[in-house]
Amino acid sequence: MAADTDLGFFATDATFEDCAAIVTGSSRGIGRAIAIELARQGADVLINYNQNRDAAEAVKLEVESFDRKAVIIQADISDLETHAKLLDTAHDAFGKVNILINNAGITRIADILEETPDQFDLLINTNLKAPHFLTQRVANYMVEHEIRGCIIYTLSISDSMASDNRTAYCISKAGLEMSMRAYAGRLAMHGIKVNGIAAGVINTDLSRVRIPDYEEAADKGYIFMVRPGTPEDVAHATVAAMRLYDTGVVLPASGGVMTPLLNLRSMSELDMNRS
Ligand SMILES: NC(=O)c1ccc[n+]([C@@H]2O[C@H](COP(=O)([O-])OP(=O)(O)OC[C@H]3O[C@@H](n4cnc5c(N)ncnc54)[C@H](OP(=O)(O)O)[C@@H]3O)[C@@H](O)[C@H]2O)c1
Repeated sequence: MAADTDLGFFATDATFEDCAAIVTGSSRGIGRAIAIELARQGADVLINYNQNRDAAEAVKLEVESFDRKAVIIQADISDLETHAKLLDTAHDAFGKVNILINNAGITRIADILEETPDQFDLLINTNLKAPHFLTQRVANYMVEHEIRGCIIYTLSISDSMASDNRTAYCISKAGLEMSMRAYAGRLAMHGIKVNGIAAGVINTDLSRVRIPDYEEAADKGYIFMVRPGTPEDVAHATVAAMRLYDTGVVLPASGGVMTPLLNLRSMSELDMNRS
């Protein structure tokens, strides 16, 4: 997989030939694009979905079009009992697992003054508790098998930017960033790299409805945004994060949304230059 195999993914010219990946939530959106990009670069891929079997089947065909192996597993990752099935299925199909992409996630809209404990639990269980403990399982497997693997988390600009109508989502992603950093620290001694991607406004089923708001904000100069992102933009960042000479860091894929900006267009209409 790498020019110097002893370095595993810490070799910055690591390739994905003969790698084997679990990509959670890979039937649609960002996970789908990551699964296809990893296959294009030479990896076998376990495709995980929760409800959309047909979409997962379509991704399987795309992975196989690159002459890579693909297996599909239905699993609601918020049910921690399913995690053994995910890992065992991938190991049995590919002979090993050296890449985990913690991607599956959901969002819900609720005013912070009205959000219920049940809504909060759903987001925390799916977006934070599930990937945290799936990582624990896969990390222990990699250590036991002396696999110098790589674990990438699909994080979000919401790790650090608050939304008062999606607070549980923001809290789940902020916690997940800390999970990523803690595992990076613990696993570096085993040659396992752990990084995250802070995705911005990406055009998927999860975010599509919010894109006009962001475009309007960019138009008015409240934020900077080159353009809405595509799932492929995040897939390319994911591959880049796997080759970084670093661990425990977050690579942005946000098209400038995180660029600090105080450049309101309305200012140009004021006569600010009078002496
Ligand atoms: N889109 C954005 O703007 C954006 C920005 C920042 C971060 N992110 C993060 O990127 C990740 C992917 O988001 P996306 O935009 O690609 O979402 P998406 O288009 O809604 O796709 C979500 C994927 O996750 C799967 N999934 C959902 N709940 C699951 C569960 N409980 N167990 C297993 N799989 C589950 C879905 O499977 P089914 O097809 O079976 O439903 C689907 O494959 C999420 O973690 C999200 O928070 C997205």
